[in-house]
Amino acid sequence: MQPKTPGAVMFDAFGTLFNVYSVLDRCEREFPGKGQALSQVWRTKQLEYTWLRSLMGRYEDFEAITQAALRVAARTLGLPLDGHAANSLMDEYHRLAPFPDVVGALKRLSHLKLCILSNGTPALLANMVRNAGLTDVFDQVISVDPLRVYKPHPSVYQLGVDAVGIPRENIAFISSNFWDVAGATAFGFRTYWINRSGAQPDELGYAPAAVLSSLDELVTALTG
Ligand code: LAC
Repeated sequence: MQPKTPGAVMFDAFGTLFNVYSVLDRCEREFPGKGQALSQVWRTKQLEYTWLRSLMGRYEDFEAITQAALRVAARTLGLPLDGHAANSLMDEYHRLAPFPDVVGALKRLSHLKLCILSNGTPALLANMVRNAGLTDVFDQVISVDPLRVYKPHPSVYQLGVDAVGIPRENIAFISSNFWDVAGATAFGFRTYWINRSGAQPDELGYAPAAVLSSLDELVTALTG
C-alpha cells in the first residue's frame, strides 16, 4: 500500500502553477484584437518546439524556444513584431501570474517537501517564483536545463527522483498538462491532473491517480 502522504510533491510550472495566458493583456496591448490568438499560438508553438527539439536531439533552452515561438506565432498571424514588442512580451514571461488557488494551497501543503520540476531555465523559474512571492515555499526548483532534453522524456522525471532522493512511487507529481501527466504516470510517479478548464484527457494509455479541478482539492487528496 502506498502511503497517502507522499515523500515529495513535485509540481509542473507553466500552466499548472503559473498561468501562461497571463501574458494575454500585454499581447492585447501590443496587438489589439489579436491578444488571445497570439497568446494561444505562442504557447502551442512553444510546446511543439520542446518536443521537436527533444526528438531532434538539438536542445535550445526554454527562453530561446519561447522567443522563437513568439516570432513564429507573430508571423503566422501576420503581426509586425519588432524588437521592442518582443522584449516586452518576453519580460512578461518572467512575471507570469500564479493561478488564484496556488498560493493558499501551497501554504496549506507547506509541511510537505514541495518542489518544481520544469522545462523552464533556472533563471526564468527563479524570477517567476520570486515575483509570485513563493521563494520560501519550495524545497527545490529543478530545471531540465542540465539534461538538455524536455518533458515528457523519462530522463526528466528521473532527474526529479535523483534530486530529492525519494522512490518514484512515493512522489506525487502535479500537472495541468495532460501530456506531462501521461509521461509522469508512465515513468511511475503518483500523478494528479489539475484540470481547471474541463479539458479532455489525451489518449496516451496512461491515466492519473486522480483528476482534480483545483489545487484546493489537491490539499484534501494529499492530506485530508
Ligand atoms: C513545464 C511545462 C511543461 O513547466 O509546463 O515544464
